[in-house]
Amino acid sequence: MSLWLLFAVALLTGVTGSPSGTVPPDDSNMTAHPNSVLENFWKPTIVVAEEAKEEVMETGELNPSHYPAQRAAKVVEHYVNTRHGSPYKVFAVKKVFSANAEEVPDSGRKYQLELSIQEMVHNTTVACAAEVLFPRQEESEHSPQVQLSCEEILKINTSAQEESLYQQYKLNHNLSTQNLPDSNGHVEEDQEPFWHLGRVASSFIMLAESSENTLYNMAQVANLTQMATENNQLKFDYHVLLHDMVSQEIIPWKLVVTWSPSAGVKVQKMEKSPNCRHCNYPKP
Ligand SMILES: *[C@@H]1O[C@H](CO)[C@@H](O)[C@H](O)[C@H]1NC(C)=O
Ligand SMILES: *[C@@H]1O[C@H](CO)[C@@H](O)[C@H](O)[C@H]1NC(C)=O
Ligand SMILES: *[C@@H]1O[C@H](CO)[C@@H](O)[C@H](O)[C@H]1NC(C)=O
Ligand SMILES: *[C@@H]1O[C@H](CO)[C@@H](O)[C@H](O)[C@H]1NC(C)=O
Ligand SMILES: *[C@@H]1O[C@H](CO)[C@@H](O)[C@H](O)[C@H]1NC(C)=O
Repeated sequence: MSLWLLFAVALLTGVTGSPSGTVPPDDSNMTAHPNSVLENFWKPTIVVAEEAKEEVMETGELNPSHYPAQRAAKVVEHYVNTRHGSPYKVFAVKKVFSANAEEVPDSGRKYQLELSIQEMVHNTTVACAAEVLFPRQEESEHSPQVQLSCEEILKINTSAQEESLYQQYKLNHNLSTQNLPDSNGHVEEDQEPFWHLGRVASSFIMLAESSENTLYNMAQVANLTQMATENNQLKFDYHVLLHDMVSQEIIPWKLVVTWSPSAGVKVQKMEKSPNCRHCNYPKP
């Protein structure tokens, strides 16, 4: 599925969907999509920009399927990816069960959430409780702070797959590819770990950049180039395209990412690319 088509689907779904500004994660029917894993990745982007912009910040018990709760939950998703993600583990919010928000004097706004988080590669879901604090804009540190407790989130053991991938690419420094997924929404099987890695690495940016007024999703790896292995870490240059549902912007970023099974995913450098004028797909 090309990006513009994705937006078309997003708009259609919004028009025919619930008028009350809800995100229906389980209602979206995208069974025509050729790749079930990707289908799940794309699902969270099926929302409408107008609805995503809810200016009034509610306090107290929130509707778990409305945007304020969904935006806070999205931050939890990015946080889990930065902590536990790997080329074989990518996390996404599945459902928000309950949410409330409160003002914390001198500090910001705190959301408390009960939600389920799905590991997309193995299709396992765990229940979690999370707190997300959005610091006030005047604070020097703007990134939201997350506290999380989940059952069994670390039980998925991917060490064998990770070790094998690591050995395979440790000595070959010449992997280079682009468009993950391609315009048909497809990722070659041997490139799936690098699409996952790109998504996990993008969560580092999206966590740092998120506020109560954003809803970031990773749209695509534009390209990636493997660099020489350094200190036993595989090293990659990624160009990724992120999508903010609220502003409807596609934002290109450049990332330098390292990974090894023992050290995990690290982002050494993230740099916002100036503009997307030359991006070769139509804007919605
Ligand atoms: C989704 O769409 C497909 C094809 O249009 C249809 O066969 C299927 O029953 C739908 N599923 C749901 C859950 O609506
Ligand atoms: C994921 O797991 C759920 C529950 O076990 C199952 O209903 C669903 O079909 C699975 N999805 C995929 C894509 O395998
Ligand atoms: C994960 O599996 C590997 C074997 O594939 C084993 O050596 C290791 O102890 C397991 N780790 C955990 C935390 O269970
Ligand atoms: C890297 O180049 C070598 C030699 O040209 C080739 O054998 C190998 O398959 C390449 N590896 C990758 C990951 O492209
Ligand atoms: C990767 O994509 C970026 C952004 O689209 C572009 O500027 C860069 O030249 C591309 N690099 C390669 C090696 O294709």
